[in-house]
Amino acid sequence: MNTTTSSPAITETSTFAVDIEEGLSNYPKQLSSKYFYDAAGDQLFQDIMAMPEYYLTNAEYDIFTRQKAAILEAFGDSTFELIELGAGDGTKTKILLEYFLQQEADFTYRPIDISGNVLEQLAADCAQQFPKLKVDAVKGDYTKALSLIKEEDNHRRKVVLFLGGNIGNFPLPSAKTFIKELASCLSPGDLLLTGFDLKKDPKVVQLAYDDPAGITAAFNLNLLARINRELGGEFDLDKFMHWETYNPLNGEARSYIVSKEDQLVQIEQLQLSVHFAAWEAIAVEVSAKYSERDITELAEETGFVVNHNFVDQKAYFVDSLWELKQQI
Ligand code: AVJ
Repeated sequence: MNTTTSSPAITETSTFAVDIEEGLSNYPKQLSSKYFYDAAGDQLFQDIMAMPEYYLTNAEYDIFTRQKAAILEAFGDSTFELIELGAGDGTKTKILLEYFLQQEADFTYRPIDISGNVLEQLAADCAQQFPKLKVDAVKGDYTKALSLIKEEDNHRRKVVLFLGGNIGNFPLPSAKTFIKELASCLSPGDLLLTGFDLKKDPKVVQLAYDDPAGITAAFNLNLLARINRELGGEFDLDKFMHWETYNPLNGEARSYIVSKEDQLVQIEQLQLSVHFAAWEAIAVEVSAKYSERDITELAEETGFVVNHNFVDQKAYFVDSLWELKQQI
């Protein structure tokens, strides 16, 4: 585990505090979904990935198990730096890692994730399962990831993995900005394998983010619990509810936390008292869904060309392999 960053604990806590203060002072209120993933949030996200309604897990699992050979072949050359943004616990990525190792590909695996807990687990699992695999795990958000990619020497071709539909957390216009920034850290010929959740029956999408067992609701509301734990907040979770909408036109599934009544909530460490009008909402997450056309357009607008689309059997999800042509 790479721990070269300077006092990450302090920096991150203060960023969290500043972002929460700002988000709750805005109108409309908003909080970043990147703050879902504390220890409790990591566990709840594992539970989400295991629920039958959350089809994304199986879809990408299906793609990797059935098409891993085609994926490696499409890389064209078996020497590369394998950088993964938002690696999480790497369960699905391990299918690829195992196959790449069997095929004697020459690569270093560089997973980056916001959650230190999950990343440590991943590094330990890799050491145990794949003793020969070179792993350099780094804790950080996407901004950190981009700076690491930039620093990386350019002798080896980079293959960047951005799996699981993580790109969906950007509304489409910001996805474009982010991919352009990523492209500015790469060289022509470098590859990007991105998991896009496809536009599909709106009922299927809706259920994935509003499951009857209430796991997703607990996952989202944990953000308020985290503010209580880390910043001395006094949110009463019973006075808030999870609400989900899917817009089939722009493909955005959006989650909100809605205040069920008019209330004032104190957050001790911010010396802040937050007013909620009855039914006032906090915007917390976007999970954007794409059509094939949306994907091709995004690639073209960011200097890439689509080399291959790996789609699951239900056509729910695509891992799209792009090659950088030129920086835009
Ligand atoms: C981790 C961003 C891919 O948006 O589908 C799952 C997070 N939120 N259920 C997604 C999430 C609610 C997930 N990603």
